[in-house]
Amino acid sequence: MKRGVLLYFFMVLWISLCGYNHTIVAQERAMSLKDAFREKFLIGTAINSYQIMGKDPVTMAIVKNEFNAIVAENCMKSENIHPVEGVFDFSLSDRFVQFGQDNNLVITGHTLIWHSQTPSWFFVDREGKQVSKEVLIARMKNHIQTIMKRYKGKIKGWDVVNEVINDDGSYRKSKFYKIIGEEYIKLAYEFAREADPKAELYYNDYSTAIPEKRAGIVAMIKKLQQQGVTIDAIGMQTHLGLKTPDIAAFENSLKAFSQLGCKIMITEMDISVLPFPDENLGAEIAKNYEYKQQMNPYQESLPEDVIASFEQRYLDFFKLFNTYQEDITRVTLWGVTDAYSWKNNWPILGRKDYPLLFNRNNEPKPIVDKIIKQSISE
Ligand code: XIL
Repeated sequence: MKRGVLLYFFMVLWISLCGYNHTIVAQERAMSLKDAFREKFLIGTAINSYQIMGKDPVTMAIVKNEFNAIVAENCMKSENIHPVEGVFDFSLSDRFVQFGQDNNLVITGHTLIWHSQTPSWFFVDREGKQVSKEVLIARMKNHIQTIMKRYKGKIKGWDVVNEVINDDGSYRKSKFYKIIGEEYIKLAYEFAREADPKAELYYNDYSTAIPEKRAGIVAMIKKLQQQGVTIDAIGMQTHLGLKTPDIAAFENSLKAFSQLGCKIMITEMDISVLPFPDENLGAEIAKNYEYKQQMNPYQESLPEDVIASFEQRYLDFFKLFNTYQEDITRVTLWGVTDAYSWKNNWPILGRKDYPLLFNRNNEPKPIVDKIIKQSISE
């Protein structure tokens, strides 16, 4: 710890002497995020298709310098990777995995079975009639195993099923659930384990701080464990607002999940500074609200008091992550810079949000150094 503080001090001094200014590029930072958290957990980011295609080299330089883990924001979701039955499109996912390997980044696969961004062919036959349970199970198996086998040994772990518990703790009545029944979850993990026995298998969800949802997830994981299914980690998405969720409730969920014997991953962190049309929205991407001027208040810049709350919220959560470093194996931000954050377009299209650690000019926000200082002084 002391060595970290000293190193940081000398690096800051050196950079100041060399004429440090606030428009530094990633390579010149005093200490990178990944170095600040090296002894604690991986620090990751989602990268989008535009970046994977090589069209945003400046942001990719930040990825290489600041992060040691990556996840694809969209290109591994079934509508992209498996748009037509039996026709896989690996063009982007191959490039994504290659980028990770070339740069020594830990790669997470996101996501195999999810109710969203799944193409409609998955659930119907050629005549458009709903398929039988047997057919859907076979399709699930083929989908999971074809993708996982392609990246065997290259992808460390997979979000096997995503968002299957409702906020009230019940099972989401997705098409997978309606056609196969609750059993589809267990089957997905079994197919995944068989495809790549060395890969870690995760469960990932949003709004995990809600007590009923926490209880639902705990009950589901326990049941799976009793059936012989091992879940290596639970992913807490962590799409936050400035006030919600309550950090104590979030901590209770973190504790409850780790008591199941699962590691914890913070998988999709961002902090929206914008008003939310519905506080209980979580990250339900199917819900969208009409644009209104008053819902987009910071089109020029952020007021000082909002910046202060934003920074405090990041510091509070990272403090919590530091406290639980034995349980947490990865903290991933849902994007690199504010420019491409999904929060600019969800739940209302066309707003200007500021949820991430790097600004629209690819510069680290002041909060980055504060998070680093907090980490190395603990
Ligand atoms: C989001 C992406 O960021 C958007 O680009 C896309 O349009 C919709 O999905 N939970 C998840 C992520 O698990 O995959 C979602 O990502 C956000 C909510």
